[in-house]
Formats: sequence, C-alpha cells, structure tokens
Amino acid sequence: MVKTGIIGLGKMGRYHLNLNDEMNESNLQMLCDADSATMDAISKNYSYEMTGDFKEMFKKVDAVTVAAPTKHHFEIVKECLLEGKHVLVEKPITTNIEQATELFDIAEKKNLVLHICHVERFNGAVQELDNITDDPYLIESRRVGPYNPNFKNDSIVLDLMIHDIDIILNMVNKNIVGLQANGSCIYSPTPDFASVAIQFEDNCVANILVSRVTQKKDRTMSISQRGAFIYLDYTTQDINIYREAKEGKEFGLKEMKYKN
Ligand SMILES: NC(=O)c1ccc[n+]([C@@H]2O[C@H](COP(=O)([O-])OP(=O)(O)OC[C@H]3O[C@@H](n4cnc5c(N)ncnc54)[C@H](O)[C@@H]3O)[C@@H](O)[C@H]2O)c1
Repeated sequence: MVKTGIIGLGKMGRYHLNLNDEMNESNLQMLCDADSATMDAISKNYSYEMTGDFKEMFKKVDAVTVAAPTKHHFEIVKECLLEGKHVLVEKPITTNIEQATELFDIAEKKNLVLHICHVERFNGAVQELDNITDDPYLIESRRVGPYNPNFKNDSIVLDLMIHDIDIILNMVNKNIVGLQANGSCIYSPTPDFASVAIQFEDNCVANILVSRVTQKKDRTMSISQRGAFIYLDYTTQDINIYREAKEGKEFGLKEMKYKN
C-alpha cells in the first residue's frame, strides 16, 4: 500500500486528510503544516505523526499531497520529486508555465507520478458532458461569486478560470487560433475578474467569465451544438438539454406572446 503524507492542512488539506483517512489504497503516515496552531487543532481529532517541516516526511512516505498556498508549490513539489516522491498537487500547479514545465520534466526523468488536483473535472455533471457534447460551436462559461481574500495573490485566471480552461480544452479537441482577454483588479493586487474569448479552428468559440467580486454565486456552462443546447449547473450538478426548440409567435386578441 502507498505510504502517503499531506503538506498544508488548511481548507483543501483537510479535505485531503478526510479522504485519505478513509481510502483503503492510501496508508497515511504523516501530516505537515507550517503553522503550529493548525497542527494542534488537527491533532485533537487525528493521531497521525505531525511535522512543521515537510522534509522530515521523506523517510516515511512514497507519495505526498501538496495543499500549501500556491506560491509555495514550486519549491515544495520540486524538493519532493527530487527525493523520489510521487506528488498530487492542488491547482494551480505553479504560478507560471516555466516552473510547471520544470516540475513535469523532473517527474518524467525520475518516472514519478505528478498529478494536479483539477477536482472540477470529476464533478458528476462534467463527467457526463463527454456523453452529450458533439462538436460544440459556442461555449459560454460563467464562474462568479463573492470576494475571498484568501486567494488575492493568485490571479482569478489561476484561481478559478483554470477549471474552465481545463474542461473546455478537454471538450474541444481543436487548435486555438485566436484569444482575447480582459480583466481588472478591484480589491486584490491580481485580477479579480476576467473575461476571455477563445477562438478555436472550425468556427468554435468559448467565452469564459470568472469573477470573485460578484455578490451572487453562479457557476454554469452553456454549450450550443447542432441540434442541442446544453446547460450545466456546477453547483447542483444538473444538466438540462434543449432539443428541437423553435422560436414562434402566438397572437391573441390583445397580446402577442413569444414561445420557445
Ligand atoms: N481544487 C480546488 O478546487 C481548490 C479549491 C480551493 C483551493 N485550492 C488550492 O489549494 C491550495 C491551498 O488552498 P487553501 O484554501 O487550502 O489554503 P489555506 O490557506 O486554507 O491552507 C494552506 C495551509 O498551508 C500551510 N502552509 C503554508 N506554507 C507551508 C509550508 N511551507 N509547508 C507546510 N504547510 C504550509 C498554511 O499554514 C495553511 O494551513 C491553493 O493552491 C489553492 O489554489 C484548490
């Protein structure tokens, strides 16, 4: 059985802790957090060995989950890979493409698994999309919600849009031929909202809007393809499919109604 450890025990690290704790395939050995108060709180409910320095795990684990803040991912993941540990790292893998490429190069050379936790890929509704979508021509994605200062140092593209980019690139198997992007900083030093239009070859367009400065949470994706309109709600994991819809007009004595 794989001996595992978790580095970073904040919001996401605790999800990983609960799941690892229940998994038969994972033999959780050790937990790590840089903050002693966090470790004290966790040790009240779990009896795993704890450390404040992730390097102390190396002798005891085969694989680690990294759920520390994004700015530390590169340094932690690199050290773990160089020590021969398989790594599951929270998204976004790093803050820039060069660092991500370097990590995958090390993993490949050392024959290690390096996997990014794109958890939205495993949302039940997203999994079902594979069975429904067929050559879409218009994708409209909206992932907005209220402000969370926790991620103010990650641009909204790395924080949230990365999920939509991942899902859309898996759905549209075509080359990108054009891209337009706009965004603004409202409360953070990095963009708080962004709107991106991706033009794929063969007249397929994806419009993605993400925001962490919108007072109402809304996480949806609409897909138009020949013969169907698909509407997915990430929060409820519902999918609605509209087929054979016709726009028509009905005339009454005093009113005119539109029917769809
Ligand atoms: N997959 C998703 O849908 C999803 C959702 C939210 C966040 N995330 C990602 O998860 C990561 C963590 O986010 P979070 O909300 O749990 O953050 P958090 O701030 O709640 O937790 C981070 C924890 O890491 C600890 N830490 C900091 N530096 C460390 C180090 N060098 N060694 C060990 N521990 C260290 C902190 O003390 C803290 O307890 C981020 O990269 C974020 O982008 C992913």
